[in-house]
Amino acid sequence: MSNTSLVSEFLQSLTERSTRIGVIGLGYVGLPLLEAFSREGFAVTGIDVDARKIQALQAGKSYIQDIPDDFVARLNGLPGTVFSSDFAHLKDADALIICVPTPLRKSKEPDISYILAAAEEIVKILRPGHLVILESTTYPGTTDEILLPMFEKTGHTVGQDFLLAFSPERIDPGNKQFQVAKIPKVVGGVTPACTEVAAALYKQVMGQVHSVSSARVAEAAKILENTFRSVNIALVNEFAGICRVLGVDVWEVIDAAATKPFGFMKFLPGPGIGGHCIPLDPHYLIWKSRLHGYEPRFMALAEQINSAMPREVLQLIMEALNDHSLPLKGSKVLVIGVAYKSDVDDMRESPALELIQLLWSKGALVDYFDPYIPQFELEGQTLRSVSFASLGDYACGVVITHHRQGVDYQALCNHLPLLVDTRNALRDCQPARARIVWL
Ligand SMILES: NC(=O)c1ccc[n+]([C@@H]2O[C@H](COP(=O)([O-])OP(=O)(O)OC[C@H]3O[C@@H](n4cnc5c(N)ncnc54)[C@H](O)[C@@H]3O)[C@@H](O)[C@H]2O)c1
Repeated sequence: MSNTSLVSEFLQSLTERSTRIGVIGLGYVGLPLLEAFSREGFAVTGIDVDARKIQALQAGKSYIQDIPDDFVARLNGLPGTVFSSDFAHLKDADALIICVPTPLRKSKEPDISYILAAAEEIVKILRPGHLVILESTTYPGTTDEILLPMFEKTGHTVGQDFLLAFSPERIDPGNKQFQVAKIPKVVGGVTPACTEVAAALYKQVMGQVHSVSSARVAEAAKILENTFRSVNIALVNEFAGICRVLGVDVWEVIDAAATKPFGFMKFLPGPGIGGHCIPLDPHYLIWKSRLHGYEPRFMALAEQINSAMPREVLQLIMEALNDHSLPLKGSKVLVIGVAYKSDVDDMRESPALELIQLLWSKGALVDYFDPYIPQFELEGQTLRSVSFASLGDYACGVVITHHRQGVDYQALCNHLPLLVDTRNALRDCQPARARIVWL
């Protein structure tokens, strides 16, 4: 296949809406992406190794908060839609978009085994005309050092037979203002033809597409974005500690600084970082940088400060109880909010998990309340969200997540003797009973 006909045929199929979009990995990233393409009239094939997810989708049920059931039901009813765990279905797709997890190993090194597993399946069905795009967050070099040789081993040549690009996902689950199609998309191909076609594909569904000169630039841009957040959160967490010893209200300081219309961006302190991105992504770059003999000091320090926050919160709880002549051991503590951020039902890497384990290790009796998470497993135990019926039984409450709906913060202040607020969630309450300790 010549380079020009590969590109022109793909562009033509986009104009005609005859391109079939295959998404591999139907989680927080993949399912909304599939939805976005389907909304624009493309036939979609969704592949996931989790049979329960495929069964749910085939039954018209969504498991992602931002995607309603009725949308999945409608999508499932369209004649062209395929949901399957069988990668053979991808043969019929023209664009193959990889959205699988990129966790860390226990050693905090990147675990790209999910990307490799997806790529091995693609190798089996790769054919001329395919466009493969990696969306999973990863270190710079993954696309052209790892995926490219795997795909070219099939005898097909990139830019000539098939196309390969990286385009980071920037979705912010729970964010109603910026849903996936409204977030500008960065695209970097392995060759200029790869960039051109991948950018044209995303232009069908995204408001804005920003092309860069290589897959590596796109990979690095994503990690810069999340490292930027990690470093700034660490700064403001440290700042909160300084304000505490100085007796200054950090929240008021931040609000005041944020009135500056330029040169300041508001970040908030909290009990630690969570979710699938901010705690993990910097490690991808730290690891890669070390391989090249460059020691990243700033990013490592930010990670150290952020990961120490659950222990700081534990300390605040112990000091607050101590001021009431109570030991933590044997005291009943209510954790308010276990999701990793406001208004979502996702608790991956949530700092609440480490805090609960720390509280257990000190002999505290822990319950939790979260309107988004009815139950979860931790250390082999099933924890269930409690009702507000007997708030007076707790020696202390600690706000870890500031859900804007479903939590009666005033009731907490009315009935609990002691509250540690790590999110400034109780700012507008009139405490009838509680003494509030702020982060
Ligand atoms: N969640 C976010 O807010 C977010 C935002 C931006 C980027 N990302 C990145 O996007 C990627 C995906 O994240 P996510 O939150 O959607 O993860 P997720 O765990 O919600 O979804 C991943 C899906 O991939 C499936 N899967 C795993 N291996 C597979 C394989 N070999 N073949 C097919 N399916 C497979 C899993 O069953 C799961 O359903 C990660 O790299 C993440 O860092 C996530």
